Amino acid sequence: MKTFTKYAAERYTGLTDEELSERVRELARERNAVILAHNYQVPEIQDVADYVGDSLGLSRQAAATDADVILFCGVHFMAETAAILSPTKTVLLPDLEAGCSLASTITADDVRRWRAEYPNAVVVSYVNTTAEVKALSDYCCTSGNAEAVINAIPEDKEILFCPDMFLGAYLEQKTGRKMHIWLGECHVHAGIDPADIGRMRVEHPDSDLLIHPECGCVTQCMYHVGMGDIPSDSTHILSTEGMIRHAKSTSRRTLVVATETGILHRLKKEVPDKEFIAATPGAVCQYMKRITLPKALWALENLEHKITVPPDVAAQARGAIDRMVAIS
Ligand code: 13P
Ligand code: SF4
Repeated sequence: MKTFTKYAAERYTGLTDEELSERVRELARERNAVILAHNYQVPEIQDVADYVGDSLGLSRQAAATDADVILFCGVHFMAETAAILSPTKTVLLPDLEAGCSLASTITADDVRRWRAEYPNAVVVSYVNTTAEVKALSDYCCTSGNAEAVINAIPEDKEILFCPDMFLGAYLEQKTGRKMHIWLGECHVHAGIDPADIGRMRVEHPDSDLLIHPECGCVTQCMYHVGMGDIPSDSTHILSTEGMIRHAKSTSRRTLVVATETGILHRLKKEVPDKEFIAATPGAVCQYMKRITLPKALWALENLEHKITVPPDVAAQARGAIDRMVAIS
């Protein structure tokens, strides 16, 4: 297997972003490739992509595309999901080191042990998990549909929810369902804490506050909304795509955004008449930022790195994903 080395990188030195983007687009046309990018990707990758979106939107695009190749500009579990949904396509991830600290908090063996402890429970796994973990789950969910998935599970069923504890706690509060929650977290979102939100509310009292449910501040923010300390009409817990939709429709001019800062590029581009402020400017995912224009070009030139999932694992994981899609 080839990898992107410093020798490969040297081939692209001296090229501007415009020139690299043009080559990426040209080669994508030749290869009949679609370029999918997550909302946290660097600006030049978002700009070269055919579609930019959240995990749910990217899964839908991957399932629906008639391209031969999917160049996936995101992290490994997302490319795996695309490979599960589009098994006949070539799915490329430009850098295999684009992982996810949250997905790494739970393994297939962990799920097997957990299931053995609660044999009658239903396992709901967030999309930020490996294909093996999805294969052992009854339902998958994303931040865009997690509430609907939990609400669709019969009341008398115990639920094992993994791997994000902040999203799990938020879902318990929203749905009133008690769940067993895996104690995993994303190091980027966990770092967006209540103190950041408190400061933002003082500095921007008339702003809308958009919070991703993986954030470390979610539980406290919900508590304060419940107590009336934070106005409920200006506090919104949303997936990244939900944030884009909300930014377009709100009448407020300033929005404080509590998630990975890559989304600010898309917000500013698509909603240029409003001001967006990162709640935590240091909330940057180094895994997402591993994907660069030279690596995207290299991936298309070499058709690397192909992401595949063993057929038995893919078939089982697909069941959990299909059950999610049927609900949302
Ligand atoms: P979204 O599905 O809201 O985009 O979030 C997924 C995520 O955490 C990617 O890092
Ligand atoms: Fe994973 Fe967090 Fe990065 Fe998203 S932001 S890919 S959850 S490490």
